[in-house]
Amino acid sequence: MMKFAGYTLIASFTPTHSIILKHPRRFRFGLNLANSRNISADALKHRSNTKTLMVAGRYFPPLFSVAPMMEWTDHHYRTLARLISKHAWLYTEMLAAETIVYQEHDLDRFLAFSPEQHPIVLQIGGSNLENLAKATELANAYSYDEINFNCGCPSPRVAGHGCFGVRLMLDPKFVGEAMSVIAAKTNAPVSVKCRIGVDDHDSYNELCDFIYKVSSLSPTRHFIIHSRKALLNGISPADNRRVPPLKYEYFYGLLRDFPDLKFTINGGINSIDEVNAALLEGAHGVMVGRAAYNNPWQTLAYVDSAVYGVPSSGVTRRQVLKEYEVYGEAVLGIYGKKPTVRDVAKPLLGLFHSEPGNGLWKRRADAAFMHCTTMKSFFEETLDAIPDSVLDAPLAEAPSRSENPFANIRDVLPPPYKEREQEVLYA
Ligand SMILES: Cc1cc2nc3c(=O)[nH]c(=O)nc-3n(C[C@H](O)[C@H](O)[C@H](O)COP(=O)(O)O)c2cc1C
Repeated sequence: MMKFAGYTLIASFTPTHSIILKHPRRFRFGLNLANSRNISADALKHRSNTKTLMVAGRYFPPLFSVAPMMEWTDHHYRTLARLISKHAWLYTEMLAAETIVYQEHDLDRFLAFSPEQHPIVLQIGGSNLENLAKATELANAYSYDEINFNCGCPSPRVAGHGCFGVRLMLDPKFVGEAMSVIAAKTNAPVSVKCRIGVDDHDSYNELCDFIYKVSSLSPTRHFIIHSRKALLNGISPADNRRVPPLKYEYFYGLLRDFPDLKFTINGGINSIDEVNAALLEGAHGVMVGRAAYNNPWQTLAYVDSAVYGVPSSGVTRRQVLKEYEVYGEAVLGIYGKKPTVRDVAKPLLGLFHSEPGNGLWKRRADAAFMHCTTMKSFFEETLDAIPDSVLDAPLAEAPSRSENPFANIRDVLPPPYKEREQEVLYA
């Protein structure tokens, strides 16, 4: 039985190529401070400053963003994420500059996105200045809200491919040049996403040297810090997101030592309470990766109200799925056999995380992927596993914080950084 009865479709979703436009608009949201919940006076001041800085035309990073994740934060996932949160900033998967340059005649396939996905950030990777410049120039037509440069990916496919991804942290002079080239070719703000170190280059001072050199040599004013180092000794990318310990004290040290720069914290932040705790401690922005993918409802549905202080849309998961079905039917098979129902439905698999019926829904989904050719039939075969009470439930109160991982962070900050101007001048 089809489970979508009983409500009307909220918004129409125009199919793919036509929705995917080079959209000239820049999104900037007004902040409704009066409706804020769960936020202290400090955070409100922070938001207030945000507004002032934006009015003054200065860049301020997003309070909340979904991390770039290869093969995860594709157009399908971002469509789902935007149906759940209107305000979260969405990062693309990393795109190699070479891919953009060599696919110059098929750019929409890699760079186009639905206008609803603003605010959206393109992450690019690469180590060839000419290609980075060309790629940024080509991407400029799509009006991303920010261009981010990947200096944090430890994947052998990337890191072993010349100086690319996190290895670039060992060459801040190059990163400075790359960021200058990128900034020169785009109208959007630029940012760097990096780790706190690489292998034995993991002292706080070395991290500061990197930040100092890149910001001195380029217009970069925003750094996203995945707060663990990367190990290049052959451990898997997944282990590189789990094994090296998180050192949030390095992140908060940067906030203290570089007051003119903006920093977004990333790594191991799993709930909206932790997001707000990080903001209250002074982080300019918080980026969430795996939690936003594996548990999109519990993570993203709270963002608009609990982080941005605007009233929640009140949307239910049944409504989200109905809209997603319209999107899915429109994009199935637009590239020949791709995307398949499996491709389009993949981001949905975390939607009922730890809810009754979740296991059964996933097993049914696995079976349905073998033969379903439409989203409608996919939902008809699977959604009975989920009780109506879950599908139609309004968003509950955000679960209350068990432990604040940033509570005593000020007590454990590393010693202040001493700028090494000489090194920068002669680097
Ligand atoms: C499947 C997957 C793919 C990822 N791909 C990228 C990527 O393309 N670029 C990047 O900078 N980071 C990438 N990351 C790292 C995330 O952006 C993020 O820094 C990391 O997962 C830590 O945040 P979290 O603990 O909130 O997940 C990836 C992570 C995952 C799980």
